[in-house]
Amino acid sequence: MSSTQRYTKVAVILHWLIALAIIGMFALGWYMGGLPKDAPKQTEFDLFNWGIYTWQMDEPGSVRNLYFNLHKSLGFTLLWLILFRVYWRITHTPPAMLASYSAFERKLATATHHCLYLLMVAMPLSGVLMTLYSKFGLKWFGLDVFGGLDNASLRDFFKESHELFANILLALFILHVVGALKHRFIDKDQTLSRMTLK
Ligand code: HEM
Repeated sequence: MSSTQRYTKVAVILHWLIALAIIGMFALGWYMGGLPKDAPKQTEFDLFNWGIYTWQMDEPGSVRNLYFNLHKSLGFTLLWLILFRVYWRITHTPPAMLASYSAFERKLATATHHCLYLLMVAMPLSGVLMTLYSKFGLKWFGLDVFGGLDNASLRDFFKESHELFANILLALFILHVVGALKHRFIDKDQTLSRMTLK
């Protein structure tokens, strides 16, 4: 495959890195939502109860607090990585779609990709805005980034947006994976291998 038929190495690395990170953020988001609000404060946490790593805190905190802060810190980092990916996408034209695609496939793939970019930004951005209007603000791995403005109605608005975006992103993600698998196993074309490192 020539270099005009495949994605750049940077685009490939960003694609798989961000995909993995988003899957992890979904898992963490759902996991932490089920944690008790009234658990006693501790300084030592067995990370995800896997028995692999014990997280040591300077000050006692609740288990909910630990995973919320982790989700917010990772998500804030991911926002910048996603913005860099958008910048890379704008400055590097992706390879043209394969000539074998039907007109419908072209429209569906283009629309899905655009919506995925939109949701990839909207997801962490709504999380940051929810945090800004909460009581707590954002500490990035312990470093103060901004304090909370404590506005309950705006916080709730962005919380609901964050949950709605999660559902839409999940649906688009499934459509995207089904599309990739169809090209790989039914059409048996080069679509998936264009998004790999040679
Ligand atoms: C691509 C990045 C992100 C993904 C995929 C993601 C995903 C999720 C998911 C799936 C949930 C659970 C929603 C539910 O219960 O239905 C959640 C909750 C939450 N997320 Fe994120 N998130 C991201 C980024 C962020 C960022 C950047 C922040 C803040 C800095 C954030 C803050 C929160 C908070 C505070 C909640 C809990 C809401 C509550 O129950 O009070 N998220 N997230």
